[in-house]
Amino acid sequence: MREDRFTGKVAFITGAAQGMGYQLALDLAKEGARVVISDVEESALKEAGEALKKQGAQYLALKCDVSSRRQVEEAITKTVETFGRLDILVNNAGLLKSFSIEDTTDELIDATLDINIKGVLYAIRKVTPIMKKQQYGRIINVASITGKNGDNSTTFAYGASKGAVISLTRSVARQLGPFGVTCNAIAPHAVMTKMMEYWDDAKKAEAAAKIPVKRLGTIQDMSQLMMYLASEDAGFVNGETVNINGGYYMD
Ligand SMILES: NC(=O)c1ccc[n+]([C@@H]2O[C@H](COP(=O)([O-])OP(=O)(O)OC[C@H]3O[C@@H](n4cnc5c(N)ncnc54)[C@H](O)[C@@H]3O)[C@@H](O)[C@H]2O)c1
Repeated sequence: MREDRFTGKVAFITGAAQGMGYQLALDLAKEGARVVISDVEESALKEAGEALKKQGAQYLALKCDVSSRRQVEEAITKTVETFGRLDILVNNAGLLKSFSIEDTTDELIDATLDINIKGVLYAIRKVTPIMKKQQYGRIINVASITGKNGDNSTTFAYGASKGAVISLTRSVARQLGPFGVTCNAIAPHAVMTKMMEYWDDAKKAEAAAKIPVKRLGTIQDMSQLMMYLASEDAGFVNGETVNINGGYYMD
């Protein structure tokens, strides 16, 4: 693997204060990218910024709630003002809550769709003229296994939102491909992050036992795949939603 894959490139990652978005920011920066980490959680964002600083990264940390069109647009504008371009957009922020269908409130439906789909649409719309002008871009959306196969432990709004992400990934891939911009998604399962804290040890063991490689996912697993999709090397991969689940679900 080349060590300089991202020299000169600028990446904007949503929900990057922790979890897989955070790991990706560290890894992209290690390979030369200038990274913008954004998140709604300010204290975690500050800590993530400290880690990047320690690594000697060129970075910007921006508070941004992806459900706010204005905040998403302002953060992207700030990224380009600061670094002069935007090569890699990673729509990673997400909301997952575990409720039955009957217990899913109006507020939870709205929040899930606002964060998991509308935030993605706002960001892609804003970067489109920038990437078209550059004739280069990599857009990566973090979907989920639930977007393909449904789920039985999260609100049904979550799987619906991730299914929409898979569909919009294909639309964007078709429409921006001619401009040197690719759009792909990843569909993870069982990655041990804060979002998955609601799984107790028994649930984790049960999930790992059902995965052919007999373990749960890590943020490093996710980052390595996203690094490839974000690289110039992945120029002929477009419109894909790549399963990353140890073989638990294949299609
Ligand atoms: N962990 C898994 O097993 C798994 C599986 C499938 C998909 N995913 C997806 O992976 C992505 C990353 O999640 P993670 O597992 O790293 O969890 P995480 O909880 O570690 O990270 C999610 C981040 O998103 C941020 N966020 C939440 N709402 C936001 C908003 N409105 N605006 C901006 N940021 C917001 C959170 O503050 C947090 O930092 C999510 O889209 C999630 O749906 C995770």
